[in-house]
Amino acid sequence: MKEFQSKSPGKLILSGEHAVVYGMPAISMAINKFVTATVVQDTNAKPNFDKLIQFTVNNFADRFDVSIDSLNIKIDSTIPIGCGMGSSAAVALSIIGALAEYYEIKLTEDEYFDLAQMSEKIQHGRPSGVDAYTCLHGGSVYFQKGKIKPCQINSKLPMFIVNTGKPSVSTGECVAEVGRKFSDSKIWYEFAEVTNALVNILATDDVSELKKIIRANHRLLIEIGVVPHKIQEFIAAIEQTNAAAKICGAGSIVGDNAGVVLIVSDEMAVIKNICAHYNFDLVPIQIETRGLRVV
Ligand code: MEV
Repeated sequence: MKEFQSKSPGKLILSGEHAVVYGMPAISMAINKFVTATVVQDTNAKPNFDKLIQFTVNNFADRFDVSIDSLNIKIDSTIPIGCGMGSSAAVALSIIGALAEYYEIKLTEDEYFDLAQMSEKIQHGRPSGVDAYTCLHGGSVYFQKGKIKPCQINSKLPMFIVNTGKPSVSTGECVAEVGRKFSDSKIWYEFAEVTNALVNILATDDVSELKKIIRANHRLLIEIGVVPHKIQEFIAAIEQTNAAAKICGAGSIVGDNAGVVLIVSDEMAVIKNICAHYNFDLVPIQIETRGLRVV
């Protein structure tokens, strides 16, 4: 039986999470972790999909007037779910890509983006679009209100990530809670300043300025209440070593886990010890230049 497969990378937000929901800029990059969707004809299929998959499939069927009754859809993922790495956008995009292949429908990039955004809305209410855009196109981008500028990142910058575990609330709940307290706040302009400072530094080798910006970003994220206490403690320990760190994504308004944390440090061994103390695995950031593709 012929299989139709499509694969989307995940993403990381280096700066501007939450602020991007209020029209401020964000810098994001696709990473070398992937969701692959496989569509195969199966007349006995009685699929029982989760909400995101079911919506994405039904929405595609409605938009293009096709029947999905005899299809089986399989999802394989190396992106941890709900940890700020764009898993929902990548799931939606990979399914849309595989269905488009199966039905031989040529979608424009705007159509891919719109359909993925509709799925993201099911998952988390008012998505800015930065996740869907980054996973669809790959590479690194400066994103603001759906408009994009290129963003160069010096691959030699000593940037690492750790996954601190899946937050106990969803991105949607986190965005909603931040909105209740800060939707009219001027703090978003401070986030924008930090993001605009970062875009100029990422192409350079100025690690000390990079650390300053990441620390400022971390303080703003604490102020909007999305950095759990345990993660604040962890980042304080990182900062003691002259390094810098911040959450990378929605973070969390309760519990201990905050998904992915970005670390900038030229003292890998010291950082590794702190991460080991918290049981976190330290991995270098690896950018993925390609976005959604057929496999
Ligand atoms: C989620 O990856 C990032 C947030 O800024 C939400 C969004 O942009 O839709 C928290």
